[in-house]
Amino acid sequence: MNILIIGSGGREHAIAWKVAQSKKADKIYCAPGNAGISEVAECVPITAMEFDKLADFAESHDIGLTIVGMDDPLVGGVVDVFEKRGLRVFGPRKNAAIIEGSKAFSKELMKKYDIPTAAFETFTDADKAIEYLKGAKYPIVLKADGLALGKGVLIVQNFDEAKDGIKELMIDKKFGAAGNEIVIEEFLTGREVSVLCFCDGTNIKPMASAQDHKRAKDGDQGLNTGGMGNFSPSPFYTDEIASFCMENVYKKTMAAMKQEGRDFVGVLFVGLILTPEGPKVLEYNCRFGDPETQVVLPRMENDIVEVFEACIDGKLDQVDLKFKREACVCVVLASDGYPVKYEKGFEITGLENFKGKEGYYCFHAGTKFSEDGKVLTNGGRVLGISALGETLREARENAYKAVEWVNFDNKYMRHDIANAVINY
Ligand code: AMP
Ligand code: GLY
Repeated sequence: MNILIIGSGGREHAIAWKVAQSKKADKIYCAPGNAGISEVAECVPITAMEFDKLADFAESHDIGLTIVGMDDPLVGGVVDVFEKRGLRVFGPRKNAAIIEGSKAFSKELMKKYDIPTAAFETFTDADKAIEYLKGAKYPIVLKADGLALGKGVLIVQNFDEAKDGIKELMIDKKFGAAGNEIVIEEFLTGREVSVLCFCDGTNIKPMASAQDHKRAKDGDQGLNTGGMGNFSPSPFYTDEIASFCMENVYKKTMAAMKQEGRDFVGVLFVGLILTPEGPKVLEYNCRFGDPETQVVLPRMENDIVEVFEACIDGKLDQVDLKFKREACVCVVLASDGYPVKYEKGFEITGLENFKGKEGYYCFHAGTKFSEDGKVLTNGGRVLGISALGETLREARENAYKAVEWVNFDNKYMRHDIANAVINY
């Protein structure tokens, strides 16, 4: 079967790499892809929001399965466009992708179906939000309702900061229409865990857990980013917590979406925080995580195409998901200055060092080819270097060894990825 993957990041590289191992995959395409993805798939110059062009391509290239990696096309309804044309596609429809597309929607869903989450209020009026914030308990969290590349969340320490935050989100519209509505929620403390779950509309099966490092700088300092590295599994996500979440979060979310007439088929990413009162949902995403995918898929033993098909066909209950016992750590190599201002277009050297090294992965995020065939930096997050190991400590050592195999000007990374779990 020919397969098309939509997206161009490290997540899509990891998906394409995993799909390439499937016995069901013949020719693999990726739109638009990047330099690294072109090693396992043919890259097609169509961007992720050109739904009709993507569907035309799928028709003309006999694509048996399209996999959507990114949030924007999912929230924009790419799956609906493909389905209307009778094309097989993996991902939630628009009416289900709203679980990520609107934080106000997801918070109301959790409230209605008694799924544990932070207490909250929603506002469409900046003055009313400010009035509410006068009497609030600090710190408190302000969230733009819509998609904002993971950057629309502000943790504010006092009323003055809160007022500035409201101005940024609702008046200056730093994240555009995403700030038309905001969620103000209780500040929670605890370890964060990301759990990506396969869903077939009725059944939900969690993959191995992961923990992301969202801040740009060591010691969790600096701005929030899309993610600077992560590890899998999270030793803090115990079997007991996993079974609590299965009953109180995952199954309930699936049932809630069905009840609302929004059957969720695809990958549901549940961002959890393990508070002293128990696990609570921080956010849902309607897709694989980036870089979570770069530590979860290297551990997955199943043929991923079979799992995608089981989700589409409503047969996920027949799938036994299996993950390697080995741990995996991913360190993101970024362009210095990310997530604000950074230069790109620098040559990346040393990529060949990964050839034939089992258990080491170099997933490309922001890269492209120069006209003379060199690989250049082309984004904030450039590469995700993942490595397996018998323990988290060993996987971490391996990942930090491998980051030295590649070089480019302005190469930047955090040095403390997985430090907290060095003894596991
Ligand atoms: P979100 O996009 O909603 O996951 O938020 C991004 C990040 O902001 C999370 O991963 C947390 O680190 C932080 N965050 C979000 N909501 C809260 C909260 N209620 N309390 C504490 N931190 C939060
Ligand atoms: N790493 C967080 C995300 O994919 O949204």
